[in-house]
Amino acid sequence: MHGKIALVTGATSGLGKATAFEMARLGAMVILVGRSKEKCEATVDHIKKETGNDGVGYMVADLSVQREVRKVSQDFTSRHNRLHVLVNNVGGFFNTRFETEDGFELTFALNYLSHFLLTDLLLDVLKASSPARIINVSSGIHARERRMPFDDLQTAKGYKGFKAYGRSKLANILFTYELARRLEGTGVTVNVVNPGFTATGLGMQPGGFGEFTKWMVSKMAKTPQQGAETIVYVASSKGVEGVTGKYYENLKDVPSSKTSYNVEAGIRLWEISRKLTGLRSNTKP
Ligand SMILES: NC(=O)c1ccc[n+]([C@@H]2O[C@H](COP(=O)([O-])OP(=O)(O)OC[C@H]3O[C@@H](n4cnc5c(N)ncnc54)[C@H](OP(=O)(O)O)[C@@H]3O)[C@@H](O)[C@H]2O)c1
Repeated sequence: MHGKIALVTGATSGLGKATAFEMARLGAMVILVGRSKEKCEATVDHIKKETGNDGVGYMVADLSVQREVRKVSQDFTSRHNRLHVLVNNVGGFFNTRFETEDGFELTFALNYLSHFLLTDLLLDVLKASSPARIINVSSGIHARERRMPFDDLQTAKGYKGFKAYGRSKLANILFTYELARRLEGTGVTVNVVNPGFTATGLGMQPGGFGEFTKWMVSKMAKTPQQGAETIVYVASSKGVEGVTGKYYENLKDVPSSKTSYNVEAGIRLWEISRKLTGLRSNTKP
């Protein structure tokens, strides 16, 4: 990845950290986005020391807040005129319903809307850097959702952590497929990855997963390095050059759920997301 510039969100822990590390090891300049300055500094120092790559930097932002997502895009484009790889990895799992300062349910805002907004804001620089790749991080849990609940995107009715999480991860895939259609011919590709069950910080905070799920994670999950393998593969491999609109698991493109291929739902979600983020959007339907 020498000569490439990559931006990775949620890069101070788990899959994002392992992805940033591996891309730095492959020679890319990597910019991490995290919400804690201390964690960002420690992660950057660790990656620089272990990989010998000095081209690693960071930006601090709470990506559940749209103002801060906009700030990341502004700060990035004021310092760099190229972006070859955008990894929308940030995400969380919450057993209790929270609202962000913009008034959106936290899982939907963080796991999905932040990806939508950041991507749109960075599309010009991605196009200018073509060939460029966008990788959205979803989850196999998306398949639990039989439909995108357009009447309850904020999971205000009967909130459950896995319900909100599954919806956000289905939204990641509908968004990926719709964006791939809109980016045809631009040299910017977009794919979505299910990293698989991985032992990370996800759901481990108080108010996250229950004790049984935490126990399963400790017994059965991949390491962050193993989980990040497919993300790095889709971000860097020659085999994925020019490939767009695909869902990857274990280094292969495989089908996602039937619901995730619903073009009408993808367009509808796009239009709603545009309104919720106040975007005019620079992609054509
Ligand atoms: N772990 C799995 O089994 C699994 C499976 C499928 C998909 N995924 C997906 O993989 C992605 C990464 O999750 P992970 O498992 O690596 O979890 P993780 O270890 O908890 O990492 C999440 C990252 O996001 C950051 N973050 C959380 N809230 C944020 C906010 N409001 N603003 C900015 N950054 C924020 C965290 O920062 P801090 O370091 O400050 O907490 C951390 O760097 C998520 O999209 C998740 O849904 C995970």
